[in-house]
Amino acid sequence: MKMLKKIWAWIDDRSGFSELLLPLIKHPVPPGSKWSYVFGSATLFCLVLQVITGVALSLLYQPSSSDAYQSLQFITHQARFGRVLRGIHYFGASAMILMVGIHMIRVYITAAYKYPREMGWISGVLLLFLTIAMGFTGQLLRWDSNGVWSSVVAAEQLGRIPIMGKLAARLLMGGNTIGGHTLSRFYSYHVFIIPAIIFILLGFHLMLVIRNGISEPPKLGRPVDPKSYRQWYKDMLQKVGVPFWPYAAWRDMLFGAATIIAIISLAIIYGPPELSQPPNPAYLYANPKPDWYMLAIFSLFALMPRRIESVVIFIGPVMTVLMLLSLPFISHKGERSALRRPWAVFGTICVIVFVFSLFLLGEQSTWSPQFTAKPLTQTNIHSSDTLVIAGAALLYQRGCLYCHKVDNTGGLKGPDLTNVSQRLTNEDLRVRIVNGGTNMPAYGGILKEEELTAIIAFLQTRK
Ligand code: HEC
Repeated sequence: MKMLKKIWAWIDDRSGFSELLLPLIKHPVPPGSKWSYVFGSATLFCLVLQVITGVALSLLYQPSSSDAYQSLQFITHQARFGRVLRGIHYFGASAMILMVGIHMIRVYITAAYKYPREMGWISGVLLLFLTIAMGFTGQLLRWDSNGVWSSVVAAEQLGRIPIMGKLAARLLMGGNTIGGHTLSRFYSYHVFIIPAIIFILLGFHLMLVIRNGISEPPKLGRPVDPKSYRQWYKDMLQKVGVPFWPYAAWRDMLFGAATIIAIISLAIIYGPPELSQPPNPAYLYANPKPDWYMLAIFSLFALMPRRIESVVIFIGPVMTVLMLLSLPFISHKGERSALRRPWAVFGTICVIVFVFSLFLLGEQSTWSPQFTAKPLTQTNIHSSDTLVIAGAALLYQRGCLYCHKVDNTGGLKGPDLTNVSQRLTNEDLRVRIVNGGTNMPAYGGILKEEELTAIIAFLQTRK
């Protein structure tokens, strides 16, 4: 024990660690910053977890288009702890985005972005977009059809931005199409470039927290006045401030630990998402479904009328970024209490409801085929005729169920076929299947005559 103390004293004297760190740990913070203040530090916990698991994954992952998919399958199914490791990295990413989002909402609702913390808000907005960019680039590294097609869609959207779009898309993907070069480029974004920017901005973000102090919980009728705020804050801390450690930090520690335990448990119980098939350019009807945090944006573009799309794709993000960045300039003083800022609260609720409904729509994604549709069973087939039974099987084998529902099985992109023969005759069915329609492929050249007959025989029983 004495020995250890001596060693520490030696290190501390030469390095000045405690001189540097103690003021940080002990610095006074306003009292009463309770549980709503834990989300920023929880984001940091998630980030550390992501760095550790990310580095571990990079030991086995091979960022080349011929090996990436295989190496991930190896990590998931063969490498020791590989499944849990990928699981933690996946759920950690989700948790980080969730925490960043809640942290941001908290800061907005308590107006903690007002004087003198404007730069904290601005660096935070940039960190939010960088976090989403990490999710987006990470998704492509799976190099399965879902990840690759999601990026294709994003690149196409980027390409539609007037004037600079084409160039931006080329830069993003490293060429005009997605291929091996895109993968190495995204690997570099995901592992070097974006993390480097995140570390720099995060350092700045935390430095600001130290410099300007944690915002005190807002109080009705106590507006922020830039002229006197700093002096007031200093006096307040002197009178009622408490040392950060342990009075405020224990909540951060507890919540951070709970978050990490939750992530690891989810990783152990559910594991990472299975990869879909390797990307195959010939598979035209792949309709990508990105990870949940991109889903809302996807739904927005899927549901938007085509005519306004190219305008909105450009103006929407630009407006959002400008609005977020200009917020602390528009309102940098005055009341912080949410009770005096009803419109801020109302606006936040609207945005949350909007994003959440888009997310739910994306979950159902009625506009895209459902590749997980199951085959029809005896309960759906009300006949013992072999032709009818063969037709029911073909409905699954030929992918009709990706888009069409029969009873409770199948997707929603096309009309429900449960009672199709009430509306359509034998001839109508044949014409539609052979020629296709809006959003339905023509099956004329794909189905053999006897397959077509079997399918129609089955559909005729659906009355
Ligand atoms: C990519 C999705 C998709 C696939 C796969 C698909 N369909 Fe369709 N189907 C549609 C859409 C969308 C419509 C509506 C087309 C229209 O109104 O122009 C439709 C219409 C139909 C209709 C007319 C229904 C009505 O009530 O008007 C029939 C019958 C039909 N499909 C049968 C099939 C069969 C059989 C298969 C498989 C061999 C199949 N579809 C595969 C999307 C799909």
